[in-house]
Amino acid sequence: MSAFDALKSQAKADAKTAIVDHFTADPSRLEALSLEVAGLYVDVSKQSWSDAGFKSALKLFEAANLKGAQERMWSGQAINVSENRAVLHVALRDSDANNLGLRGPEITEDVASARKAMQAYAGAIRSGTITGATGKKFKTIVHIGIGGSDLGPRLVYQGLAALNPDIDIRFVANVDGSELALALAGLDAEETLVIAVSKTFTTQETLANFVGARDWLIKHLGEDKAKAHMAAVSAAPDKTGAYGIAPDRVFGFKDWVGGRYSLWSAVSLSVIIALGFDVYERLLNGAYEMDQHFYHAPLNKNAPVLLAAAQIFNRIGLDRPSRAVIPYVHRLRRLAAFLQQLEMESNGKRTSPTGEVLASATCPVVFGDEGTNAQHAFFQMLHQSEDVVPLELIAVQHNSEASADMQQKLLSNVIAQGEAFMVGKSYATAEAECKAMGLDEAQTKIIAPQKVCPGNKPSTTVLLNELTPETLGSLLALYEHKTFAEGIVMGLNSFDQWGVELGKTLATSVLKDITGDAIAPHDASTTALIKRVKG
Ligand code: F6P
Repeated sequence: MSAFDALKSQAKADAKTAIVDHFTADPSRLEALSLEVAGLYVDVSKQSWSDAGFKSALKLFEAANLKGAQERMWSGQAINVSENRAVLHVALRDSDANNLGLRGPEITEDVASARKAMQAYAGAIRSGTITGATGKKFKTIVHIGIGGSDLGPRLVYQGLAALNPDIDIRFVANVDGSELALALAGLDAEETLVIAVSKTFTTQETLANFVGARDWLIKHLGEDKAKAHMAAVSAAPDKTGAYGIAPDRVFGFKDWVGGRYSLWSAVSLSVIIALGFDVYERLLNGAYEMDQHFYHAPLNKNAPVLLAAAQIFNRIGLDRPSRAVIPYVHRLRRLAAFLQQLEMESNGKRTSPTGEVLASATCPVVFGDEGTNAQHAFFQMLHQSEDVVPLELIAVQHNSEASADMQQKLLSNVIAQGEAFMVGKSYATAEAECKAMGLDEAQTKIIAPQKVCPGNKPSTTVLLNELTPETLGSLLALYEHKTFAEGIVMGLNSFDQWGVELGKTLATSVLKDITGDAIAPHDASTTALIKRVKG
């Protein structure tokens, strides 16, 4: 029997036992299925697996040779085969070139010089040595980028920004001009720095927004002065000159940094300026601690592997097609959006790197919102639908911004939800509640079934000691490695994104139809929509 078939049959057997009964059967369950690392406590004991199920999931990582894949990644081999690129975001947080193999010195030198340039520029802006053209200090950065050039920096900034920042960041991603208009509203151009962030510097949304922001700067400051208010970050620095950005305001990174893994590079320049280089270094240090853990820890005590194994068990073992990510952390309210790109763009694939169609399902739908808000929105369905949606519940234990009372209320909610999803509410309990409400037998027969929650819904809990640059760095690296480990087991290349291209190509041809005289042939629905928007 293949390791996949063994997992599927064990998973089906495990699912016949209530999760809560797995605890009764195995007193060492929590100890075996939880760990602490890099400021995080990770608990996968409320998943549907038995010990045998957990072990059969781990076997897949052995069978796929995760260790070999880690070595190939860290040593700079071109594991992104379709684009013939190395995948070395780990090098951005590895100041000792640990595990980087022969390419270590060359890479760390490159990383060090990029960091030096960012540190100098960010420091000069923060101290006021570099100012706007009229001598005023920069107070707002307009960060323009999309996808990986937006989601990571936005999450980190929201996660770590001071309550009253000296320098604020406004993010602009969408080509819907309202986002740019809202970002620029009320700003003083003399105190505003616009940074265009794009790995390729060809992305339609980013270039359109940058042109709009540049026009706004020119309108308020004139063409010459506007130049002092523009910077760019790109792995294609040669393309930035065409947009009037001075070469000494362009910060680069290498093509071995994938877009959705790029927050550790100059893509976070605006965050480095706003929060300080020391905060950025602490973020890298937290990620580095998780990198070392992922590289060295055994599979059964390896946090990214535990999360990946839970997902493989649910998705492949039990055919559960979605996963909810619920951060009970307002500052991490965009975590699900970040993970949607990280996981779904990385692993939402249907073929192997050699082009064969894969036999098993790959990435689930990842969705979510912050708790407790989500409890008042879509949790009803998660509690009572027959569909099983595994959850990830994320919380921060100590929060100096919150009163003790509010923090206790928040934490009691996250803990209670994990328990509620697992234990559910039986018919007997519902019946007793009806009786206590004074309902008669006939009414009870109608109401009690409606109150039943089947329970047995799996969840993983991740608890951060505190939300610091270090723990945020380790949390994000945890998910990066989870995604990588899943990709290895599922037998796909997590580092390309061919599926995104179709929409981009068609958008270009539809734009021609909208702006030109003629409309190319389409289906009746598409043609009608084009005619409508042409007016
Ligand atoms: O959505 C496709 C994609 O290429 C992402 O992978 C990337 O993060 C995003 O577009 C933005 O790309 P760029 O940084 O090159 O503008």
